[in-house]
Amino acid sequence: MAHAERLLLAGVMGWPISHSRSPELHRYWLSRHGIRGSYVPLAVRPERLLDALKGLSALGFCGSNVTIPHKEAALALVDRVDAMARRIGAINTVVVAEDGSLDGFNTDAFGYIESLLEARPGWRADAGPAVILGAGGSARAVTAALAERGAKEIRLLNRTRARADAIAREFGPPVVALPWGEREEALAGAALLVNATSQGMERQPPLELSLARLPIAALVSDIVYIPLETPLLAAARKRGNATVNGLGMLLHQGRPAFKAFFGVMPEVTPELRRMIEATI
Ligand SMILES: NC(=O)c1ccc[n+]([C@@H]2O[C@H](COP(=O)([O-])OP(=O)(O)OC[C@H]3O[C@@H](n4cnc5c(N)ncnc54)[C@H](OP(=O)(O)O)[C@@H]3O)[C@@H](O)[C@H]2O)c1
Repeated sequence: MAHAERLLLAGVMGWPISHSRSPELHRYWLSRHGIRGSYVPLAVRPERLLDALKGLSALGFCGSNVTIPHKEAALALVDRVDAMARRIGAINTVVVAEDGSLDGFNTDAFGYIESLLEARPGWRADAGPAVILGAGGSARAVTAALAERGAKEIRLLNRTRARADAIAREFGPPVVALPWGEREEALAGAALLVNATSQGMERQPPLELSLARLPIAALVSDIVYIPLETPLLAAARKRGNATVNGLGMLLHQGRPAFKAFFGVMPEVTPELRRMIEATI
């Protein structure tokens, strides 16, 4: 088949997969850029992940995103992993190379930073201490992103202290793990507060946190995006802090993956944002 006729094919593997917004995101960009391609949701059971990844090349896929629960397992199954993904300990993008071998990337750190820059152009990671709440997969991506952008002090607090300690040990300075019980004191002098726990998400209790000690100039970011305005963001907005919701991270993490699959770096347009917001 002539290359011009080739249908470029990519997808997203998850279990379950019906909640994923990636098909809508990538299909919007395919249509906007007039690319003859397709992006499909792939329901892959955890025990079939290796088979599914190995099948990508034979099926003619350019690559695939991987989402919950596959992000950590997939890292161990691909042929090469880039430095950022290795640091985070998970991949969310698999690209099929010419010879059929697989490269793994993690675009969550990029997506997170882009979401802050979109909300606050000129934002800098070295503007002051960052406080990150949580030590799960997303907290690792946010920590890696801020460290790479030159954050000088990252205060990491997690309900299960050992998980924050492990990240602090692994990343070294600038990451310092503090006890969960000291999260309100930890806000003093901070320039950025990030909720990377699941608290505040739909059907979850709000994060228990008084913002009294947080400077009004601090940026407050919540990576939860259902609802778009979590109780934390509402409280921050009411007292005068600038806020960033989790939708930007979700939208921007798709951009480098789309570029890797289809060859064009797409933009997050207001129309795309409205379209995905309508699904929330
Ligand atoms: N915007 C985006 O693109 C994006 C991407 C991925 C995820 N997210 C959001 O980020 C959230 C976290 O995702 P994840 O993948 O990092 O999840 P995860 O690996 O399961 O981690 C969950 C985190 O929440 C903490 N947590 C759970 N219940 C808590 C409670 N009652 N009190 C205090 N902390 C609690 C956990 O602490 P322990 O260690 O003590 O259990 C852990 O740090 C998700 O809920 C999702 O909404 C957003």
